[in-house]
Amino acid sequence: MEKYIFPDGFLWGSSTSAFQVEGECTNHDFYEWALKGRIEDNTNPADAVYHYKKYKEDIALLKEMNHNTARIGIEWARIEPEEGVFDRGALEHYRDELIAMHQEGISAMVTLHHFANPLWLSRKGGWENLEAIKHFTRYAEFAVSSLGDLIDFYITINEPTVLAHQGYFEGKFPPGKKNFFLMKKVNSILADAHISVYGLIHSIHKSKGWKEPKVGIAKHMRNFDPKNPDSLLDRLSSSYASRLINHEYLNKVLKTSPLKERAGTLDFFGLNYYTGDLIKFPFKTYNRGELEKNILGWDIYPEGFYKMLMEVWNRYRLPIYVTENGTCDENDELRPDFIKQHVIAMHKAIADGADIRGYYHWSTLDNFELAEGLSKRFGLIHVDHESQDKKRTIKKSGRYYADIIKNNGILD
Ligand code: BGC
Repeated sequence: MEKYIFPDGFLWGSSTSAFQVEGECTNHDFYEWALKGRIEDNTNPADAVYHYKKYKEDIALLKEMNHNTARIGIEWARIEPEEGVFDRGALEHYRDELIAMHQEGISAMVTLHHFANPLWLSRKGGWENLEAIKHFTRYAEFAVSSLGDLIDFYITINEPTVLAHQGYFEGKFPPGKKNFFLMKKVNSILADAHISVYGLIHSIHKSKGWKEPKVGIAKHMRNFDPKNPDSLLDRLSSSYASRLINHEYLNKVLKTSPLKERAGTLDFFGLNYYTGDLIKFPFKTYNRGELEKNILGWDIYPEGFYKMLMEVWNRYRLPIYVTENGTCDENDELRPDFIKQHVIAMHKAIADGADIRGYYHWSTLDNFELAEGLSKRFGLIHVDHESQDKKRTIKKSGRYYADIIKNNGILD
């Protein structure tokens, strides 16, 4: 019987984003996108799963699942519904939520931007417009000055490269454009936005005498390998995909070349991992035939998780927090073993030297899954979307994960 025990003080939690769970906020571009019929199952995030009104119940469920931390989002469109107009009530709400988490011994990792943009910002050209940096910085200043005493970890921007790629190249997120050069431009503006806010957060905490925060981004890392390892073209394509999708943004944010010691504007590496691809020249992607797939067709590939953790550690030498890892699973059949295999992969990476300090499973609750809608389930907690109060029930995987947390690892 093998045991996989984690270092003392390891953080165990799960992750949500604001608009995917909260509801009661519709002045953002993802809602408008849904109204245009762009969501696969034709649902929209107007109610999401009522987390905004049910946050106390959700925190009690986190506690029941033994969490010592959780990643939550705050919604820019709610806090700044009109340009330059801030809603104090929204801030009070988030203060209450953070206080309630602390009272249960659950530390907070807070995401300032997770895909959705206020409509007023998208009307001004969104992230194509350099001015977005100024707007984002002003919003961050307001939010951090009002909430920072309750926040240990910040994610400034969630998956900037995915936002640029899906919104400006694949066209699957708003604003639905398809232009390679625009994607590169947006990626670069999102890097400058992070850089601008990184220093600001530290200086606000310092000037108020609050605890020094840890500030980072959540970076989607996808494992790319050549379809045919003997083909030079496949190898070149796969390493270009890795550079473009995995490292370009980071190189800018860190202002450092690989293998140098920590520098730049990340206090930690927030790593989101879901799956990997095989790449055939020029950029055709394939699954690994032999692997189990989830309902979205993504390979379940824990070995790729190990490889990404080691690549990130060897390249950036920053403490790593896994800010998302999970799978889409209608009936919770795959998720328990998915968690087990990925936790074991993470344990191996720690044994091989990677400084990994925490794991946030995606997601706490079934939620509004981006381009797919409410029907695609990623949660440790089942949400009955049909019931009047969106009834919650901890799934088998949630119970299994709670045991891992209780034991600080896997005992069997
Ligand atoms: C995103 C989440 C999303 C999840 C599952 C991540 O890339 O940050 O917002 O729900 O993947 O697709």
